[in-house]
Amino acid sequence: MLTSGRGSNLRALFDSEADGRLEGTIAAVISNRAAIPALDIAATHGVPGFVVPHEAYADRDAFDAALGAAIDATEPDLVVLAGFMRVLGPELVGRYAGRMLNIHPSLLPAYPGLHTHRRALADGVRIHGCTVHFVTAALDHGPIVTQGAVPVRDGDDEASLAARVLAVEHRLLPAAVGWHCEGRLTVADGRVRVAGAIAPADAALIAPPLSPERLSSS
Ligand code: GRF
Repeated sequence: MLTSGRGSNLRALFDSEADGRLEGTIAAVISNRAAIPALDIAATHGVPGFVVPHEAYADRDAFDAALGAAIDATEPDLVVLAGFMRVLGPELVGRYAGRMLNIHPSLLPAYPGLHTHRRALADGVRIHGCTVHFVTAALDHGPIVTQGAVPVRDGDDEASLAARVLAVEHRLLPAAVGWHCEGRLTVADGRVRVAGAIAPADAALIAPPLSPERLSSS
C-alpha cells in the first residue's frame, strides 16, 4: 500500500483483513513522507513501513527507481495507492500494469487531480462520489473497477461532502482489493469485468430526491 498521510483507507483494508473479508494480507506500507499516521497504523498491525522521501532524489526518474525498488522488495501481488501524493512515471506504472489500483475521491473521469470536493461544490453537481481504478501513466485515469455515488446536500461544505465520500471509499477499496485477490477482475477494451458480481439493481440515486407523487407517477 502506498500512501502519503492519514491512512483511513489503509485502516479500512486492515479492518476487512481482520474480519476475514479480504483474501490477502497487507505486506508493507510505503510512503514518500515520514511521521505520518498511516505508518503508525501499519506499525500497530505489525506491518513494515518504509519511507522513500521524494525530496531526497534529484528528479522523478530517480525517485521512481527508488520507489520501484522498495515496492519490488515486498514482492506484492497488488499495489494499492490511497492518497499517495506523487505522480508515478510510465516505467513504474507499466511494470505493475493490471496490478496497481488507486482510489480517487470523485466519479472519474470527472475531477481528476486535487480538491475534488471543492470543485464539485463549485460546479453545483448534485451527485459526487469516488472511484477505484487500475493505474495508467495518466493522472487519475485507467480502467474503472468500481464507483460509489453520494448525493450533494444543500448545506454541504467541503468537509461534510468529503466525509460522506470517504465513508463510501472505505467500503469500495476493500471490495475492489478483495476482488483482485480472488482473481475476479479482468480488463478488456478498457472496461473491467468483476466475475460473479450481481448486476446492478434497477435503482437510481436521484438528488435531490423526488417527491413521492413524482416517484409513483414514473
Ligand atoms: C482519500 O480521499 C483518497 O481517495 C485520496 O486521498 C485520500 C486519502 O485518505 N486519494 P486516507 O489517507 O486513506 O485517509
